[in-house]
Amino acid sequence: MTSVPDVDANLLSAFLDSSEERDPYALYDMVRDLTPLRVPGMDTVLIGKYDDTMAALRHPGLVKRDPARRDADKPGWRDQPGSAEFYQSILWQNPPDHTRLRKLLNRAFTPRRVQALRPAIEQRVEDLYRAMADRGTVDLYADLAAQLPMAVIGDLVGVPDADQPDLRALVMDFLLVIDPLQPLEAVQRAERASIRLREYFADLVTLRRASPRDDLASDLIAVRDGDAGRLSEEELVRTVFILFAAGFETTANLLGNGCVALLQHPDQAALLRDDPSLAAQATEEVLRFDAPLQFVSRVTDGAVSLGTSVIPAESSVVLMLGAANRDPLVFEGPHRLQLTRKPSGIAAFGMGPHYCLGAGLARLEGEVVFGSLLRRFPGIELTAVPHRRLTFNMNGFTTVPVSIS
Ligand code: HEM
Repeated sequence: MTSVPDVDANLLSAFLDSSEERDPYALYDMVRDLTPLRVPGMDTVLIGKYDDTMAALRHPGLVKRDPARRDADKPGWRDQPGSAEFYQSILWQNPPDHTRLRKLLNRAFTPRRVQALRPAIEQRVEDLYRAMADRGTVDLYADLAAQLPMAVIGDLVGVPDADQPDLRALVMDFLLVIDPLQPLEAVQRAERASIRLREYFADLVTLRRASPRDDLASDLIAVRDGDAGRLSEEELVRTVFILFAAGFETTANLLGNGCVALLQHPDQAALLRDDPSLAAQATEEVLRFDAPLQFVSRVTDGAVSLGTSVIPAESSVVLMLGAANRDPLVFEGPHRLQLTRKPSGIAAFGMGPHYCLGAGLARLEGEVVFGSLLRRFPGIELTAVPHRRLTFNMNGFTTVPVSIS
């Protein structure tokens, strides 16, 4: 067993560089084999090999920085509304609270409920295509990738269509709360957005309690009102809010990244156009090739052995999903987009007890879009270089300009 060496200072500053030209995948290639690596002075350890990442996600000694741990490590976080909302949600819980919340959500979020959304998703996609069809040039991010997930998660949770545009802007602002690279002004915007969103979802819960519908908010209210010990009122509102936020930008990035990957690889696009039955595995390959979420984090609960290394107690651990997805020991020619690859065990949705709750829904949206877009618009092509949205762990585009005529 060996201790964890320090990351080279030049490599570290390359990681923290937030310019659009930065190529994270080239950086991962430089560090992957060297990980685990410690960031000096920060008690943070980076992990990028596929096997280590997957083992870490399943390791009982690597846990979430839950509210009690955060109180000890980062006091004051509860005073900021955005942080309080985000870091008390299911995303940051350990057992027993995580197990209790996850069980309730698994019951409301069944594969059957997700599959039942397919016709509605197909209809939504068709409506978006129709709105694009006569325009000649469109922005695939704004006009498709960002529209569909909001509409779908809105249908699932129970958010009316008319409220969605405002909520979308608020959610995009709110998500900056988790980004350590944002300036103060953006953080303040995120805090304001979280207050508005909290109020919105509290009102939605009141509305659905008065007149329930066939949606997740109504289901969770029924759970709460049936047995108050299982879900507090605060958890109920926060869960509806966080589901809505978690399901939005990640899926928009899956769709945006996938469109860009396909349009930049015309041979692969042609394969899919000729055989739309490849859509499900194309979605998987796109998730591997350009993961919407590049990092997740844990803390060590005592010293943890991982592979041949020992990670010290009290460490923050950053698991580089994007690096694991391009590990050449697992994925042959990892920098090639190859729709026939059938990649199994991709890291994009995590693994273990926190495995993404919405993976089935996101995959379904990818399948519907990637299976139809290239047939619906056979002449589609990029008209300019798409712009990336620069945040710490979210990986996606802000604009994907295409011609569809
Ligand atoms: C392509 C789209 C998506 C990606 C790439 C993605 C990615 C992830 C990842 C990597 C995790 C694990 C976090 C960790 O281990 O720390 C996660 C968890 C989670 N995701 Fe997703 N997600 C996506 C879509 C969705 C959708 C559509 C929803 C909701 C409708 C959702 C809800 C959640 C929730 C609630 C968790 C926390 C699960 C837990 O801790 O038990 N995600 N997601």
